[in-house]
Amino acid sequence: MPKQTRETGLPQNARPVMQRAMWISNSQRLSFESTETTAHRLATSSGGWVERLGEDVIVSFKGEGAKAELLEGLQRWTNDTGWLPSRVFTRFLPTRNADRVSPELHQGDSALSWKTTVTEAGIRYGLDIAAGYSHGLFLDQRLNRARLQHLRPTRVLNTFAYTSSFSVAAALVGAETMSVDLSRKSLKRGEHNFKLNGLDSKKHRFVADDILELLPRLAVEGERFDAIVLDPPTFSRSGKGRRWRVVDDFEYLLAAALDVAMPKCSILLSTNCTKLDPAKLKRRARPCAKVRRLSADFTELGAPDDFPPGHGASTVWMTVG
Ligand SMILES: C[S@@+](CC[C@H](N)C(=O)[O-])C[C@H]1O[C@@H](n2cnc3c(N)ncnc32)[C@H](O)[C@@H]1O
Repeated sequence: MPKQTRETGLPQNARPVMQRAMWISNSQRLSFESTETTAHRLATSSGGWVERLGEDVIVSFKGEGAKAELLEGLQRWTNDTGWLPSRVFTRFLPTRNADRVSPELHQGDSALSWKTTVTEAGIRYGLDIAAGYSHGLFLDQRLNRARLQHLRPTRVLNTFAYTSSFSVAAALVGAETMSVDLSRKSLKRGEHNFKLNGLDSKKHRFVADDILELLPRLAVEGERFDAIVLDPPTFSRSGKGRRWRVVDDFEYLLAAALDVAMPKCSILLSTNCTKLDPAKLKRRARPCAKVRRLSADFTELGAPDDFPPGHGASTVWMTVG
């Protein structure tokens, strides 16, 4: 049996046998719309996936066979449901980061801007389809953004914040937020997301820094948070060349985060690393809490139901006592 892989966009050693795409039903699409959610998966196969982003669709594929299969499936699905995208983009998912290329317009008006806006539970997020790394919103984190809102936190630290989607969700329920990312450009997109939702970004903090260096400084300065989002990349390199590998450095990150956690803090542990499933995240998190004489309770939400099992990030909420 081929090993099932989560989509990371990163190198995959084992290519699974191509499985046919699973498409959501039209009633699922309508149910997303009824909750003011216009960004969701339409289909997932072992060779790629199809996302609906507002009026547009992106077909992400690992090879030409998968691309053809997903485009044919999209044609059938739109015929069956009557929902027609304004534009269809295709995006190649290379096995090496160095081979990344911009998406291409497959169908639709080439004069329209590639910047667009989607909603998730009524929250507006700006996307840039031409942006290389990702368009700006990780759809598999939908349930975690909703839970963060549900927790009604007062002070949120969003590490590896990217376009600050978690911060926007928290700020809308009254939290003060600090969003930290190495990329100033991504944080600027985060500020734009605040503005799109009528939030004053000047009342929130956007810090362009290496979170691994910043966390100890925040602890010394007495900064404390009642919700912390830890959603690091699998690998990265900071501006100073420091190498990060989530499998090796997870405990260092969590320990440093615990030093800025208020009592009863909720911490989202999340990763796309295929070596760390939710059970392993919990197994590795427990000793970190124990060393600091804290209790740890865990809540697993699983992936949203437009993601088939085995797809989407591995995530667990940890509440420390
Ligand atoms: C997987 S994305 C995070 C996605 C984000 N949590 C979300 O849901 O939108 C990883 C982000 O981590 C940032 N990053 C990587 N290494 C970092 C570091 N050492 N310190 C701060 N940010 C880092 C990257 O710039 C990138 O924006």
